[in-house]
Amino acid sequence: MCSEVGAVGPLTSSASSAVLRSAVLAPSIYNTQPWLFRCTTGEVEVHGDFRRALPVTDGENRELALSCGAALFNLRTAIHHRGFLPISTVRPRPGHPSLFAAVRPVPTAAPHRSVSRLAEAIPRRRTARAAVTACAVPDAVIAELRHAAEAEQSWLVVFAERQRAEVAALIARACRAQLADPQFRAERSRWSGRGRTSDGLPASGEFRRPAALTRAGHEVPLLVLIASFDDGPVAWLHAGQALQRVLLTATLAGLDAGFWSAPVEVGSARRELRALSGGAVWPQALLALGRGRAATPSARRDLAEVLIE
Ligand SMILES: Cc1cc2nc3c(=O)[nH]c(=O)nc-3n(C[C@H](O)[C@H](O)[C@H](O)COP(=O)(O)O)c2cc1C
Repeated sequence: MCSEVGAVGPLTSSASSAVLRSAVLAPSIYNTQPWLFRCTTGEVEVHGDFRRALPVTDGENRELALSCGAALFNLRTAIHHRGFLPISTVRPRPGHPSLFAAVRPVPTAAPHRSVSRLAEAIPRRRTARAAVTACAVPDAVIAELRHAAEAEQSWLVVFAERQRAEVAALIARACRAQLADPQFRAERSRWSGRGRTSDGLPASGEFRRPAALTRAGHEVPLLVLIASFDDGPVAWLHAGQALQRVLLTATLAGLDAGFWSAPVEVGSARRELRALSGGAVWPQALLALGRGRAATPSARRDLAEVLIE
């Protein structure tokens, strides 16, 4: 580990620290923060930290890569916001599977206002822990959310109102299947509450019940799926960037977002979700968008813990 953040190309050492502090505000599965960063003279490298993998919940390290993709999106956006174009390469050296991306900042004109708005939303975005309830989402906002996913080489499936109950039932079945597995329960409790101060999930309120989605007299909230055209490490890194761009776009539109990952984590449920999405794309992250109670900010590790020489 390394405690000093050096200058990276045109970024001063304090600007490098600032963009890394934005990167680590990304969401991550169980708040594992499975990323490491290496600053060279010209690039910031983003590495996956496989010591933080979840072999039961995420056996292929797909959600580990999604989480690092989300951090990569924050990094690119924060660099761009400071007036440098982030030239980013995913998996730059295929023989090094833990090197997920390299980002080279180069001087450019002032960023477009839309980049600055996304950058400003980074510290405001939080995962809704309590149930997300339905609210009207204008078509123009749905179009922006779709565009956010497509800009990152991914796809957004927006489930029609008539499909939402079916997706909610699939969420309930997948959650039941996970909870019936003692190894899943043990892995989840290792990352929850007590004793974890700079990573992991908060002590209480983190596990919403699927029944919250289908309460009598309440509409099921808008359910959207980040999906990709392929299913492998490169597609997962793009999907993670799309996930974060969609989440920041939702934040800017005043929407709260909660995750429902069980149907993407349980193989049989993922196949059903793929079929429900038309069969052509690969499900990566399922979100409920609407109104949620404000969550307290979740913990993050110090930069010194995520920097490598
Ligand atoms: C790939 C991925 C899957 C996630 N799945 C869930 C989930 O199923 N349920 C949930 O409540 N949060 C889920 N989260 C959100 C994380 O718990 C959250 O990002 C982390 O605790 C940090 O909190 P923050 O997003 O508020 O910064 C997921 C995040 C990622 C990146």
